[in-house]
Amino acid sequence: MRALILNTSTKTVAVETTPDPKPGPKEILVRVRAVALNHVDYMNTVKPLATQDKRVVGSDFAGEVAQVGKDLDGIDDPRVKIGARVAGFLQGANSVNERPGAFAEYLVVDFDLTWLVPDGISFERAASVSLCGVTAAQAVFYRLHLPSPFWESGVLDSQAGPITVFIYGASSSVGFYAAQLVKLAGKASGKEIRLIGAASASKHALLKEPPYSYDVLVDYRDPQWQETVRKAAGGDGVQYAIDAISQGDTVYNTDSVVQAGGKLAIFRAPAAGGFDMAKIKTRTVFGAVWEALGVDVQYHGGIVIPANEKARASAAAFYKFLSVSAGPNQAVLEPNPIRIMPGGLENIPIDGFALFGAGSKAYTDHRRPVSGEKIVFTVG
Ligand SMILES: NC(=O)c1ccc[n+]([C@@H]2O[C@H](COP(=O)([O-])OP(=O)(O)OC[C@H]3O[C@@H](n4cnc5c(N)ncnc54)[C@H](OP(=O)(O)O)[C@@H]3O)[C@@H](O)[C@H]2O)c1
Repeated sequence: MRALILNTSTKTVAVETTPDPKPGPKEILVRVRAVALNHVDYMNTVKPLATQDKRVVGSDFAGEVAQVGKDLDGIDDPRVKIGARVAGFLQGANSVNERPGAFAEYLVVDFDLTWLVPDGISFERAASVSLCGVTAAQAVFYRLHLPSPFWESGVLDSQAGPITVFIYGASSSVGFYAAQLVKLAGKASGKEIRLIGAASASKHALLKEPPYSYDVLVDYRDPQWQETVRKAAGGDGVQYAIDAISQGDTVYNTDSVVQAGGKLAIFRAPAAGGFDMAKIKTRTVFGAVWEALGVDVQYHGGIVIPANEKARASAAAFYKFLSVSAGPNQAVLEPNPIRIMPGGLENIPIDGFALFGAGSKAYTDHRRPVSGEKIVFTVG
């Protein structure tokens, strides 16, 4: 098969031919039809963790089941049928392990770490959901513990009045999915949740409409935005906050709108995000999406993220929920806006990674800066 392969000594990626993967007993072989880019895909090309000479890179994918592992015969699940349309993410070259990534014509994955894509959702749109969708689900249900329609019930800290949730970076991929999941938490609990967001003013019209339906939006470039958020939450600040950017001052600013006893979810560790946990007053929860894979992940800075069976079980429950609760033409999570890039795998380093790196300043139309959208490539 053809795959996008990282050469760890030159820190470059190129399409090369490599043997087709074979599914293990509980895995499915997926013919990849579309992939989406995440920051980590670029970062691990320029700062490889892998020690092997060559690695297949990439995380988010969507495609069709081409073969199923021998232990999956007779399992009553639509995701183990040949031709089933599925999506998910792999860890790829984002660690020192041997697991290949998703930017390839074929990949293997545990069937329960994929979700069934409704017929009316294109592979390109479906490819944009999994990694950031699971990241958002971990924050909303697994770490902040809001009431969930698929995971052990959360506890709402306040029983009186509407619950207030603030999302900083509402037009990021993590932010788009977090808002939808907060709405599901409201439905699951029957409680009113007041959703407040910070995003560019240019995204406010989109974010006021379903499925996001923010009650209040502020422009993160307005110097008074924190004041506006506190007022909108009744003066003391919000009960729950999600900083979907988690970069330097964004963490301190988001912390400043949380009321005493509230909770904050962040997505970068202090060293990577350039902030100091000692300066944050709110109970703060952080975790890496890779915990969803249920295997040890050796990561940047010599850190090992240990295999976490509970995190894997919550991701599998989330994927099952996405699979069984969708309509024929509608996904449970509306995929965020996508930009389909020209070309296939070979164009990822040319057009895709250029958008994340410092290299390209000469933007043509498809290379304009990423803003409130996912960058997607069709495969094959
Ligand atoms: N912990 C984990 O496992 C995990 C998993 C996934 C992602 N992440 C991290 O989560 C963050 C978000 O990832 P993503 O893929 O969702 O990002 P993304 O979709 O690429 O976010 C881009 C959007 O963020 C907005 N933005 C950029 N800088 C901002 C700032 N300073 N303040 C407010 N908004 C800003 C921009 O909005 P405008 O264009 O409208 O200005 C842009 O549309 C990244 O830091 C990523 O590394 C962590």
